[in-house]
This record gives sequence, C-alpha cells and structure tokens, in this order.
Amino acid sequence: MERLRPSATALFLMIMFQFYLSIKVGGIGVNYGMLGDNLPPPSQVIALLKSRGVTGVRLFHPNLDALRALQGAGIQVILGTLNQDLQGLASNPSFATNWVQTNVIPFSQTVQFSCISAGNEVIPGELAEYVLPAMVNLKAALRSAGLGQTPVSTSVSTKIIADSFPPSHGKFSPEVSSIMRSITAFLAADGSPLLVNVYPYFAYISNPQQISLSYALFTSPEAVIVDGGLEYDNLFDAITDTVYSALEKAGGETVEIIVSESGWPSAGNGDIATVENAQTYNNNLIAHVSEGCGTPKRPCKRLETYIFAMFNENLKPQGTEQHFGLFFPNMTEVYHVQSN
Ligand SMILES: *[C@@H]1O[C@H](CO)[C@@H](O)[C@H](O)[C@H]1NC(C)=O
Repeated sequence: MERLRPSATALFLMIMFQFYLSIKVGGIGVNYGMLGDNLPPPSQVIALLKSRGVTGVRLFHPNLDALRALQGAGIQVILGTLNQDLQGLASNPSFATNWVQTNVIPFSQTVQFSCISAGNEVIPGELAEYVLPAMVNLKAALRSAGLGQTPVSTSVSTKIIADSFPPSHGKFSPEVSSIMRSITAFLAADGSPLLVNVYPYFAYISNPQQISLSYALFTSPEAVIVDGGLEYDNLFDAITDTVYSALEKAGGETVEIIVSESGWPSAGNGDIATVENAQTYNNNLIAHVSEGCGTPKRPCKRLETYIFAMFNENLKPQGTEQHFGLFFPNMTEVYHVQSN
C-alpha cells in the first residue's frame, strides 16, 4: 500500500508536532496533597494525572501506594519528608538511611525522583535548624545507595524574604539569613535547586491597594514595574526573581529555583477567590511556564512549576485553604485547565 506510506515531510511534521506537544506540557507538575478523608485511592489519582499529560507530581511525604502507582508512569516526582521527621533525619544518619531505603530505593529503577525535599515551609521556625543537617544526611544516604545524583533540597515560603520590592532588592530576612546562607552553600556545591512556594494570591490579598488583580492574574497588558533594565508584567515572575536576588546575595548565583507550589483558591474569600480567578490564574500560569521563557532575571530558562493542588482537601483549615484544588474529591474538575 505504497500510497498510505507517509511522505518524509509528513513524517517530519508529525515528529515535530509530537515534540512540540511534549515541550508544551513539560515542566508542569501538580501537588498531590492528601489532607482529605474523601480522596480517591492513589492508583486512580496517578491514572488521572497521566491522562491529563501532567509530567510531574509532588508528594509532601512518602506514600507507598502512590509511589507504586508512579512506577513506570513517566511522571517525575518531588518527594518530601514529613516535617516531624526532620529532627530524626538531622540527628541520626541511620534514620536517613532507613528513610531512603524504605521510600526511594525500592522505586529508584522505575520512578524518576527529581528532588528529595527535607521538610516544607519550616524556615523560620523551631524546626529550621534541622533542615540542613537533614539534607546532609539524606544526601549521604542517597550517595551510599548509588543515587548521589538525586538532588536534595527543602521547600521554603517567601516568608524568608525581607525587602521584596522591587525584585532586585530581595534578600533573606535577618532571622533566617544565617540558615539560608548555609543551605544556599550546600545547594550551590551540590548543584541542587531551591524549592520555593510562590503565591501571588497571598501577596495580592495582603496589599490590594498597591497590587492590581491583573498583575496577580497574568492579565496585565503591559509592564507594571520596571526594575533596573527588567520589566515585569506579572507578580509571579516578580516574586520568583525576588528570591533569585536573595540567593545571589547569599552566594547562590548558580542555584536554580523550582516553584514547588503556586495556585489560587476558587472559594472562601469573596470575589477574589472565585472559580473564574482561579481558572484564569492557573491557565495563565501553565501557559507562562510552558513558554519556557523563565523570569526576567533568568530568561530562556524553563521554570519547573508545581500547581497547588490536585484536590480540594477537607481536612485543611476552613476557608480558602480547602479550595485550592483543580479537582473535587470525586475527580471531576472544579474548573478546566489546559494541561495538554
Ligand atoms: C462531584 O463533586 C462536586 C462537589 O461536591 C459536585 O458538585 C459534583 O456534582 C460531583 N460530580 C459527580 C459526577 O458526582
């Protein structure tokens, strides 16, 4: 059937189109939070992620059912430790070895771990001092298991930043600067990224007089701030670059950022947390990150980003916290996002 054989040109176009598609969805992940008593089993959740072309997932803590479901799924994984495990991980190398042997090694052939995260948003705080020693012990445990190439980091909120405007002024706050300087040195030496939770929503609601909703939702038609030679038309880039500025001032010029969380709630706060705004934010976020254009300070550098979150979680605090999900627990969409 000679006529059915595609021409070389058609074949080339088909390959390029598939290449384009995979580029387009690459770099977008979703946070799989599990603080709900009505969520579907992990196997169904991972199947849903796969069907939507999602290329990354973040687990806040190990869940063996989820990890089993991720085997061979082609979805890269940020795996966190429980905050309550930080002290043990920090003070006891064999705790870290056990953690890696239980949660990483059994899956290391079939799951791509893009990062292991020692804790979530514990800096500043009473657990902050344990983060770096936990990272060191986790790295050593991975290395002795032959997995030394797996990055180890921690996930921080922008509470660690003082002087967040304009982005070039960003620096670590005095309270955290010593800890963040040490963590930055570890990340730089190890070639590992810093995981940052970037929420234009919270910045906007804390200062709606001075921040426009369009700047927060990626809908501003023009630059809103000019900082040195750099122009910002969206708050997401501005916040991310503020953290880049802080890293640079702490000796972390080479440290990359992964946005471990970003999102917008669809209910729980009047006419700001609406389905329409959440849908606008997340679709624009995906489009922005998928362009692969990075931020003004790191142009042409794909910014790996994880949307918060997969589900509305009914065991989180009342209010907006329960309404960040892209999906209801019954796996129907809260609103549609264009992930593929
Ligand atoms: C799924 O849950 C949402 C929220 O509770 C509800 O509005 C919707 O009707 C449900 N859909 C199905 C198919 O059960």
